[in-house]
Amino acid sequence: VTTAPERGTVEPLRFEDGALLVLDQRALPAEERWIRCATVEQVADCIRTLAVRGAPAIGLAAAYALALADDREAAAELLRSTRPTAVNLAWALDQCRDAPDVLETARRLHREQHEADRRLAELGAELFGERSRALTHCNAGALATGGYGTACGVLRAAWARGRLAEVWVDETRPLLQGARLTAWELRQAGIPHRVVADSAAGSLMAQGLVDRIVVGADRIAANGDVANKVGTYPLAVLADRHGVPFYVAAPVSTIDPAAPDGAAIPIEERDPGEVVAGGNAFNPAFDVTPAELVTGIVTEAGVLKPPYAESIAKAVAA
Ligand code: MRU
Repeated sequence: VTTAPERGTVEPLRFEDGALLVLDQRALPAEERWIRCATVEQVADCIRTLAVRGAPAIGLAAAYALALADDREAAAELLRSTRPTAVNLAWALDQCRDAPDVLETARRLHREQHEADRRLAELGAELFGERSRALTHCNAGALATGGYGTACGVLRAAWARGRLAEVWVDETRPLLQGARLTAWELRQAGIPHRVVADSAAGSLMAQGLVDRIVVGADRIAANGDVANKVGTYPLAVLADRHGVPFYVAAPVSTIDPAAPDGAAIPIEERDPGEVVAGGNAFNPAFDVTPAELVTGIVTEAGVLKPPYAESIAKAVAA
């Protein structure tokens, strides 16, 4: 454990002096604590226990971890097994595994994540009307990407253009990524927001208090089905019921062309103890939103629209 290199920054990962520094997201917002990882096993443990989390950020952490490995093949296998749903993890490992300079490749992926986030944030902000009230789920901010954020990046860019009035932040049961992390990021960005219980979203929509929903993604299938934090699917159903546009914001690296549809996406099942302390529980960490409920997918290659099989294939090819 070391002290924060720079207080107040929302930068979840730094590679310094031959080690990966991970901002411990389990301790936020109460404490800014950094974990120094000098081995692949330590990084794998940080990913598994959600010290670092969010699809692009775990991909970057795994990429940096390969730079610490003696045996890249074994390290990639270990890292790949830590979390099954986010395709960015496998994608980043594939980018680094045979690279002549792993650390340089990891740093490049990190820079490219910043650029992709910025670009998709601007494209997403264009979809906002005047003084929109937006709702988001989980945390798809800088903490989750290592860049500017995807869904939260869109909100930041919309705020910068004066198009955002307020953000409803789903608390995001059971681990409260919304209440703890998204609220923390929005507070730092000076964006007005209020945390709501996940189960409040329906009545907010019924009262006309939500103009847009923007969420991130862990894996997008070739047909546009979207896996994201559990609780995203019911939001999409409610949005459909109430005529609220439902946008997914994600870099092209979150698209998995090898998954034909949502049924092919592995859904991580986590410890029941995260849901209840004692007693029986079932804890799927993600759910799948069918493509037909998604108004648009905001990527750095453009805002993809239905029919997604075509628009996604084009974005991946580009
Ligand atoms: O379990 P988590 O906290 O890693 O889940 C994160 C999400 O579901 C995010 O919405 C997704 O990874 C996109 S992050 C830009």
